Amino acid sequence: MAVTPVDLDRIAPDGLNADRVHVFGNARRIEAVRAGPLVDAVRTGAREAQGAHRVPALAFVAPDDRQGAGPGLPDLRGPIPRIVVRQLLVHCASLHPFSENGMRQDAIAILGGTGDQGLGLALRFAKAGRPVVIGSRKLERAEEAAAAVRKEIPDGEVEGLVNEDAAGRAPIVILSVPFEHFASTVKGIRDNLAEGQIVVSMGVPLATAIGDGAVRTVGIWQGSCAELVKSLVPAGVQVVSAFQNVPAQRLQHLAEQVDCDVLVSGARVPRERVMELCELVPGLRAVNAGPLANARIVEAITALLIGLNARYKVSEGLGIRITGLPDSDSSR
Ligand SMILES: NC(=O)c1ccc[n+]([C@@H]2O[C@H](COP(=O)([O-])OP(=O)(O)OC[C@H]3O[C@@H](n4cnc5c(N)ncnc54)[C@H](OP(=O)(O)O)[C@@H]3O)[C@@H](O)[C@H]2O)c1
Repeated sequence: MAVTPVDLDRIAPDGLNADRVHVFGNARRIEAVRAGPLVDAVRTGAREAQGAHRVPALAFVAPDDRQGAGPGLPDLRGPIPRIVVRQLLVHCASLHPFSENGMRQDAIAILGGTGDQGLGLALRFAKAGRPVVIGSRKLERAEEAAAAVRKEIPDGEVEGLVNEDAAGRAPIVILSVPFEHFASTVKGIRDNLAEGQIVVSMGVPLATAIGDGAVRTVGIWQGSCAELVKSLVPAGVQVVSAFQNVPAQRLQHLAEQVDCDVLVSGARVPRERVMELCELVPGLRAVNAGPLANARIVEAITALLIGLNARYKVSEGLGIRITGLPDSDSSR
């Protein structure tokens, strides 16, 4: 089925621009899903309604889809409020959550999700209601880890697969293996990645990789672990750097807020999608850290945090907070 990405600038050229970033973030989620034609129909309706200020957009939706789309369109007699369009787009995505290749558009895959950090993220995302795919080199380990998450979150949608299969099951794929195994892991899943997917690098090039200490990093030719990943993924796959400064213990402590900032870097659109993931975890705040090359700085902060953990003896791990940021993100 042909699918047209949603272009919110064209939904409501006048009314939506002020809130474009947030609405756009939601719209991106429903690119390449079966809801595409329905969204197109609503887009046409929304544009007309915005112009005429009286036209009910629902009339533009095919009769078969009206019942499903209705709850997303509570009241369209006046101008369409931004929030309604946003709700509608999210609603459309939930009506048709599977894309043609069986990928869940709201799923998050975590390769090496059997380890401390990946498991922590899996618990948090599952708790937030997102489908999670845990990847491992061994199917049994992946299934065990998925069962462990389901035990904590009984209504969580969590499955375990080998890394290669997990990589193809979600639009966002988080790499959660030790730095020294990043290159081999990415090479192993490269054929399973497709244009449009986002790979999140959380790796830190700790000097433990060469038998030295965890309070230092080693140099990487490409500049950072994230840029190494970028050099290895197929064309059209985006790489974003995030979550390096969040300790696993805090993620796994579901009863507590995580209380950390996450410096997220990469190209604008994929970066914003990963920033939205941070909002799923209570206490995490995403900070726009600019281009991917800034991962060099962010990754090094983790080595500093490990040293601080040791000096201050903080068993649950330290995080970082950036102070003085405005409440609304004006950086994008
Ligand atoms: N732990 C933290 O607090 C923390 C904080 C910030 C960032 N990070 C970063 O997050 C990533 C994961 O950290 P972690 O502490 O969860 O690591 P980990 O527990 O040591 O390892 C994670 C997973 O990597 C897989 N793995 C191990 N050896 C491998 C190999 N040779 N090839 C491919 N996969 C292999 C294993 O999964 P399978 O055996 O199931 O394949 C393992 O469960 C690292 O890059 C780390 O720098 C960690």
